[in-house]
Amino acid sequence: MTFTAQKNAQLRPQAIQDQELSSIFIDADFDIALRTYQSNKTVSPLLLKGDSLAVLAHLPSESIDFCMTSPPYWGKREYDGGGIGLEPHYQEFIKNLVSICHEIKRVLRPEGSFWLNLGDSYQGKNLIGIPWRVALALTDSQGWILRNSVVWNKVKGGMDNSKDRLGNVHENIFHFVKSARGYFYNADAIRANPGTARIVNGAVISATGVSGVRYRRQIELSTELKPAEKQLAFKALNNILSEISTGAISDFRMIIRGQQRATHSDSSLVSGRAKELIEKGFYFLKYHPKGSKPADVWDILPEDTQNRSLHFSPYPIDLCRIPILATCPEGGIVLDPFCGTGTTLVASRMLGRKSIGIDISSRYLEATHDRCNSLI
Ligand SMILES: C[S@@+](CC[C@H](N)C(=O)[O-])C[C@H]1O[C@@H](n2cnc3c(N)ncnc32)[C@H](O)[C@@H]1O
Repeated sequence: MTFTAQKNAQLRPQAIQDQELSSIFIDADFDIALRTYQSNKTVSPLLLKGDSLAVLAHLPSESIDFCMTSPPYWGKREYDGGGIGLEPHYQEFIKNLVSICHEIKRVLRPEGSFWLNLGDSYQGKNLIGIPWRVALALTDSQGWILRNSVVWNKVKGGMDNSKDRLGNVHENIFHFVKSARGYFYNADAIRANPGTARIVNGAVISATGVSGVRYRRQIELSTELKPAEKQLAFKALNNILSEISTGAISDFRMIIRGQQRATHSDSSLVSGRAKELIEKGFYFLKYHPKGSKPADVWDILPEDTQNRSLHFSPYPIDLCRIPILATCPEGGIVLDPFCGTGTTLVASRMLGRKSIGIDISSRYLEATHDRCNSLI
């Protein structure tokens, strides 16, 4: 079912409330559509057809919790209805994209996050560096704060017949926030499950098999630690083992002077850890009890683009999981201003978030509509 509203036509809030399917609005009063959508409980996406810059201009400021998108590559594909990506010069493409990001910043709540997936392009033999040119334009001219640059390792590349360079298998995903403090981040929602400690013959053994026996021997035999330092080290080791047995931490490593190297640097000027090692003779690396956070290289296979009538961007649902779970509050609204076939919206729906997709192409919005509704 496609639900459209003509420009200035009376929208039917009740109709929106009652239906569980996503709705496509063409030439409508997008701000009213958004307000109505905000006030109902559905997690079916709201789809707005038009040029992103123009549609975003209709949306109220600070009305969106989270934005994730993959704009077109520069110079690679012509989409229905035009749009960005086919500018003769990449500078013009960047300028157009940066203008859209300005609107994204306006509609995002102060505690909101913006995740931007960008692939690079060549101009002749020259790799342009589009992702970082855009990222720096956003930090330098719009005041966005860049929190992470994730490398999306697509593991396998597309067809590449070039004989004079390496294959390209990565893209960037930038995480921007509006304000350095107070942005929403739920790190616990994305932690890997920690292993659990075991008790074997009355001794506690951490999830990765650390029992303290080896550290105890190293302290005993150490020629670098003074007797008083050894006493302190034994005591601290016993304390941390009891923290493991109560589940206060899930695992640990002990760094002992003369046995292990300081984690980042041996210089006490740049590393507080190195200073601790020099002054006290040991320190601990404690693992978070709820597991470790994901790092900034993600190995995720692209969507299978074979046997699809429409071009599906190689932007898989899995790519949206960490961003949504960590930075979109439950009950929040997700935005994708280049929603294409709606991967961001599908992921949002699966994770119980409301979402809004904008695209210049009716065909893509219809595909999004069908895709989202097939989840019901
Ligand atoms: C790389 S695709 C996005 C793919 C999407 N992540 C998915 O899951 O299918 C880029 C999309 O941007 C749309 N587009 C390009 N320029 C646009 C503009 N100025 N306003 C709105 N949509 C635009 C295209 O129609 C296309 O669907």
